[in-house]
Amino acid sequence: MDISPGTSGPPLTGTPTPDGTTRHTGTSFGGGPAPDGEPVELRDEELGRTWEEFKLSGMPDLLGALHLCHALHALAKSGLLERLREGRHSTGSGLYDGMNHRVSSHTLRYLALKGVLEQWRGSYRLTRRGELLTSDISLARLGFYLEAYGPVVGRADELMTGAAVYGTDVHRSNGPLSRHCGTVFGRYYTPVVLEAMRDRGAKRIMDLGCGGGRLLVDACLNDPEITGVGLDIAPAAVEVARELARSHGLEDRLEFVVGDAFDPGTWPEEVCADIEVITGIGVLHEHFRDGDKAVVDILDAYADFLTGERMLLIGEPEPHYDDRESDSEFFLMHVLTDQGFPVDRAVWAGVFARTRLTCRRTLTWATAGPRMCFYELEPRG
Ligand SMILES: C[S@@+](CC[C@H](N)C(=O)[O-])C[C@H]1O[C@@H](n2cnc3c(N)ncnc32)[C@H](O)[C@@H]1O
Repeated sequence: MDISPGTSGPPLTGTPTPDGTTRHTGTSFGGGPAPDGEPVELRDEELGRTWEEFKLSGMPDLLGALHLCHALHALAKSGLLERLREGRHSTGSGLYDGMNHRVSSHTLRYLALKGVLEQWRGSYRLTRRGELLTSDISLARLGFYLEAYGPVVGRADELMTGAAVYGTDVHRSNGPLSRHCGTVFGRYYTPVVLEAMRDRGAKRIMDLGCGGGRLLVDACLNDPEITGVGLDIAPAAVEVARELARSHGLEDRLEFVVGDAFDPGTWPEEVCADIEVITGIGVLHEHFRDGDKAVVDILDAYADFLTGERMLLIGEPEPHYDDRESDSEFFLMHVLTDQGFPVDRAVWAGVFARTRLTCRRTLTWATAGPRMCFYELEPRG
């Protein structure tokens, strides 16, 4: 180990002595007066190398990203983001009213250090990067991973060892899942569904696994002639969907029922009598967990229901199993929740070929939105 003049940290205006220590003579240390006493810097090559390796590993950046995600989520959830957007930028304009001032203000300072906020004399504003990080889509993607699946990822070790089982001991958070999916789905999937309906002149739709009802509400808001039924296994999601429809004055055009999307025989006849298009978005691939045959059987059960001009529109994520567009994060969610994995259009084509359905068109966004394919299915002629 060397005891030698420092080469890192704030500049020291010291003089090396024969034994290698530095006697600090300056008055400035970190911008303030130097502490009393003789500064001595120690150096050990091996310890230095280990620390350098830690830095080279990228771990400090990962830790920064981890905390930044939590802090951004907290900024939105605490209501501080809303206040900043309303122009309440400082204590004087009520930024911290009713909050823990110390914790909130220091968290904002942290976000300023991270380049999300700009600080000026105790007032905070979003930087351009901050605006992008807190866009509806960015926060919905964040909420999907942090709020909906955080309770699962946080117990990955137990899921891996078998000490806990997904669905019994560990659950994703369904309310936030519906909410955050709804934000992204409404923007990117509703236009696809509307296009499929327009193409067939269809006006009545049933959404399987409707979650918080966003898709149906958006469809109705876009076309005054559309009516529909949402079906979901989770009573809480159905309640959220009903409330969303009520809040938009759509309770006369939309109905939401609790039911099993994969058992058409149990669907209430009175609500599905004149359905023209049935959508199922992001719900079917879970059944690959039980093998392709399980999915084939469900599709064949739908085929029995597709009498007349009815069409089935299946929307499924199309991961590329690379590390872009959060694909690997999406994969991890499926691993930990022990679901079947999403597959690409080639695999779906093989599955469809084994059913009594045929795929008429495959719709997908060229460059925008989550990687997703919509398959228009109808009974074989
Ligand atoms: C990934 S989310 C799909 C989101 C939904 N399509 C939306 O627009 O927000 C899966 C949804 O399917 C529902 N679900 C899961 N199993 C179901 C089943 N057997 N029958 C009906 N809904 C089901 C869940 O409750 C959840 O709302």
